[in-house]
Amino acid sequence: MTDPYFQQRFAQRIGGAQYGKGTEIYKFEKIKRAKRKALADHPERKLLDFGIGENDEMAPEPVRRVMGSEINRPENRGYADNGIAALKEAAARFMAREFGVSLDPATEVNHCIGSKTALAMLPAAFIDPGDVTLMTVPGYPVAGTHTKYYGGEVYRLPLLAENDFFPDLDSVPAGIRRRAKLLVLNYPNSPTGKVATREFYERVIRFARENQIVVIQDAAHLMLSYGEPPLSFLQVPGAREVGVEVHSMSKGWHMIGWRLGWVCGHERIVRAFADVKDNCDSGQFIAIQKAAVAALDNAEIPKQTRAKYHRRLKKLVEVLRRCGVDCRVPGGTYFLYIPSPKGANGGPSFASAEDASQYLIAEHSICTVPWDDAGHFLRLSATYEAADEAAEDALMAETETRLKKLRLVF
Ligand SMILES: Cc1ncc(COP(=O)(O)O)c(C=O)c1O
Repeated sequence: MTDPYFQQRFAQRIGGAQYGKGTEIYKFEKIKRAKRKALADHPERKLLDFGIGENDEMAPEPVRRVMGSEINRPENRGYADNGIAALKEAAARFMAREFGVSLDPATEVNHCIGSKTALAMLPAAFIDPGDVTLMTVPGYPVAGTHTKYYGGEVYRLPLLAENDFFPDLDSVPAGIRRRAKLLVLNYPNSPTGKVATREFYERVIRFARENQIVVIQDAAHLMLSYGEPPLSFLQVPGAREVGVEVHSMSKGWHMIGWRLGWVCGHERIVRAFADVKDNCDSGQFIAIQKAAVAALDNAEIPKQTRAKYHRRLKKLVEVLRRCGVDCRVPGGTYFLYIPSPKGANGGPSFASAEDASQYLIAEHSICTVPWDDAGHFLRLSATYEAADEAAEDALMAETETRLKKLRLVF
């Protein structure tokens, strides 16, 4: 195929003149392809799909009911710009009810069309060429990608098992600290499942103040916290002076496709975000925002979501432990992050989590997501499709049978 006349015109940030010519396949695309192949090669074998990172059910009926009526109201038809007051107020009520955090809805809260877009836009408010964003890895890369789009650099903070999956802030070199403007955190952490502690956040606040860094805490999975009640960064004294927290309606309320979230915290950062956002989109459909108000005012929904994924994670951990996997129920998220096997007894050995994951899907139709960024781990999600608890149990029994035959070596 000949190149289009504009092939030389693509920006360097997406590959310049080489854009569209690479042969590298990204991890999630590889998994999708392997899944399709496993289904085609082994139609007789049920796919045990622990690879999906999305809620497996639709938004609860009370939320859909509000959407159903709001969609027919003419006053909801127009541009929502930076969001309706009712949503900001509902977010502020939610933050007060769940975390005891008091926010001025007019100035300290702004909606976003999903937290992904907020993480994409926040670097625009801070990053000039040469500036640095500190980001934990493995993790959700969006803020880092946009930092680089603006000519900034990403400094990776590995989340290692030996550090209990917290970043080692003391290890950041002085030269990087001087150039760093943003620290992007994500707790409960995807994919490690680690939840933050007050002590950790206190350390983060001290670090941010000492180094004049703005903290962006990605709270997408916050309502999926087990054991301890969910901890918002903004609950910790001083947090509001150093940053913002980005919330999402996706995970805790099963509203993943509805695309809604909010940024809250320091008034000046929220305002800067709103200014950038105003130049990127015109706000989420008002009917969706009103449905989210109903969701936020309903304390039962996140409780039920939490109970469901906690139950599923407990079952998965029991099965995996019986199969020799060293794991325990995570502090949060719907993900289980387990050490990647080194091989299968009497079968192949694996140099990476990617190798292990390819073997599991191709040979045994077990889908997982590999992470080789900071040690070798597999992520198993509890968002598999199962209509009821009996179906969950059947799926767990099949998982156990298949894994026991495999005899993985760690
Ligand atoms: C850690 C993390 N942050 C943010 C997001 C984005 O969520 P949303 O854009 O649906 O709010 C996700 C989605 O998978 C995530 O896992």
